Amino acid sequence: MVAVYPGSFDPITCGHLDIIERASRIFDEVVILCAVNPSKTSMFSLEEKQRLITEAAGHLPNVRVDHFTGLLVDYMHANGFRVAIKGLRVISDFEYELQMALMNKRLAEDIETFFMMSGSEHLFLSSSLVKELAGFDTPLDALVPPCVVGPLLEKINSKR
Ligand code: PNS
Repeated sequence: MVAVYPGSFDPITCGHLDIIERASRIFDEVVILCAVNPSKTSMFSLEEKQRLITEAAGHLPNVRVDHFTGLLVDYMHANGFRVAIKGLRVISDFEYELQMALMNKRLAEDIETFFMMSGSEHLFLSSSLVKELAGFDTPLDALVPPCVVGPLLEKINSKR
């Protein structure tokens, strides 16, 4: 069975990568989908995010990366996929993710959302916090995959 892991990934963090690694041991194939969250402004383009994720997840043979601008359920239907993975960290994630899962169910009865709890060492981690810290010379090594550090600092510095 193929599972799609959609998200903003702006940029991918070690928390995302942990979910991807664990999902790749459950599903035959995992497609990481860089999608657009209309309520967020992105620092990286979809293509840049796709490149970074491809490098970060390069050690996982049954994982590939794609990007899409549109409704998740339309992407899933167009490709014949039926399971979407979402990661949950804190209670505020649950409210938002439950709302999205129920809306997606209403839009597409045949698609299931598969929730995975974040690893305890990543409960505090978010792309937004990583971007904030990157502006203050804080070490990012334990927060994002190594290939993300350089491009993230470049983006931050180019905005100064
Ligand atoms: O990492 P995020 O920002 O929590 O990911 C949210 C994302 C991109 C998965 C969500 O916004 C999404 O599915 N966007 C695609 C458009 C869509 O299908 N919107 C309706 C959701 S009910």
